[in-house]
Amino acid sequence: MKSRLFLALALCFSLNLRADDTNAPVAPYILTPPAPATPRINGPNVFGVRPGSPFLFTIPATGERPIKFSAKNLPRGLKLDSKTGRITGSLKTRGEFTVTLRAKNAPGAAEKKFRIVCGDQISLTPPMGWNSWNCFAGAVSEARIKSAADAMVNSGLINHGWTYINVDDFWQNHRDSTDPTLHGEFRDANGFIMPNSRFPDMKGLADYIHGLGLKAGLYSSPGPWTCGGCTGSWQHEQQDAATYAKWGFDYLKYDWCSYGEIASGQITNTTGIPLWGKTATNNEGAIYPYRLMGKYLREQDRDIVFSLCQYGMADVWKWGGSVGGNCWRTTGDIVDLWGKTEFDWQGSLSSIGFGQDKAAPYSKPGNWNDPDMLVVGEVGWGKMHPSRLTPDEQYTHISLWCLLSAPLLIGCDMTKIDDFTLNLLSNDEVLAIDQDALGKSATCVLTNGDVRVFKKQLEDGGHALGFFNLGSATVNLDFNQLSPLGFSGKQHVRDLWRQKNLADVDAANGVLPLTIPSHGVVFYKLTAANQ
Ligand code: GAL
Repeated sequence: MKSRLFLALALCFSLNLRADDTNAPVAPYILTPPAPATPRINGPNVFGVRPGSPFLFTIPATGERPIKFSAKNLPRGLKLDSKTGRITGSLKTRGEFTVTLRAKNAPGAAEKKFRIVCGDQISLTPPMGWNSWNCFAGAVSEARIKSAADAMVNSGLINHGWTYINVDDFWQNHRDSTDPTLHGEFRDANGFIMPNSRFPDMKGLADYIHGLGLKAGLYSSPGPWTCGGCTGSWQHEQQDAATYAKWGFDYLKYDWCSYGEIASGQITNTTGIPLWGKTATNNEGAIYPYRLMGKYLREQDRDIVFSLCQYGMADVWKWGGSVGGNCWRTTGDIVDLWGKTEFDWQGSLSSIGFGQDKAAPYSKPGNWNDPDMLVVGEVGWGKMHPSRLTPDEQYTHISLWCLLSAPLLIGCDMTKIDDFTLNLLSNDEVLAIDQDALGKSATCVLTNGDVRVFKKQLEDGGHALGFFNLGSATVNLDFNQLSPLGFSGKQHVRDLWRQKNLADVDAANGVLPLTIPSHGVVFYKLTAANQ
């Protein structure tokens, strides 16, 4: 007991930790400075495509319009629309191509090196976009998806790299819903899946989304039914993969749910299918349905991001990449709460966000751990309300997801996006941490009282550091532990949310004075001064 007290005192002393008790509710506050009128090219530095697949990359750029885009050394097969900044076409040969992207407008010009890698792997940085579930749940429709896509453009979020517009559950017909819009044939006479009456033209929808320079995503289950009770892909996997490709979709979220009945042998016509459950001696039965769909998606003539949704079962991060997965959920469903949730299949921001270290070593370009979608803005799974997370919890949410190299899927109603939420989603220096081409995930490198320090190695040799405060009072901290965290020499320090340089610090004896609000974060990038 005595020695524990001593240890706590020693740590407080070494970190010079002071907590104050003021914990009044905080109104939303904006840290990100507005983008300048001069052009800035945002988004990832690298993009992967397979040979022969249709290429679509919209150069994300802020700055006064009109902007004239150009590109030097664009490989043969690709062309750039100088007005929209969209690069399209296809590449025949494998290889790496370094392109210089340029954006010019009346007040100025910008340039950026961009690597196109034509090979087997896609999704070389975590996917960024929007998904319908956290706001609309079962009340999704073609009109709502189109409005979300329009809002992605009109809000300017497309200029920060947000790309996918993903339809989640309920585009198919339902097994027993009382809602007549969900009644209809599950499949046609030839076994092709039938969308419900709210989605009269799936190809038209994907074309509409592509027409805005965005990409389109869809949802299914390897079981007979999706989690919401709509038609799943069981025994139609190959046909469904071909249908999604024919319609022009670029992303598939594949959700376990009723496959549990098959994996546990409750459905009889499963000859040759490995079972999974309490009696299984290996994970083959959990892997099997994903391997199957992964293979069929891979056979299509377009690149389809494969997102595994099975809540982290069977340590999916260890095998998700081997079945063609680009990202995999590591947890149950997130809700917009910091702490305790209503149901045990749900996770909160803190339980999910701070529990990801186990999967971190498996994060790499093309393979991303997915701690579930974002719960900022108006969310509510059909019963809309502003996120119940405090402003500081929302800063934590975005900072942590970027440190974890998580897929970033906005879950709010895009048509009702407010300035605070927009600011959270449009800080290019913060998003660059998520999109860093090295693809590492941060881990927790230091725990002290309520403070957790997360560190992420970056491609340019720098590191992102997140200082999180899990406690209920503000923490004031003179942080002097850079040397034990592996830093040496003089370091430039940049406050990412404020996009501001702070004083350089010497890792050996320097101090970072930090004020971390309750459940909030201080998010810095450190770069060696001699670099
Ligand atoms: C859940 C999944 C959610 C959503 C929902 C649709 O299993 O985790 O993100 O897709 O199914 O029914």
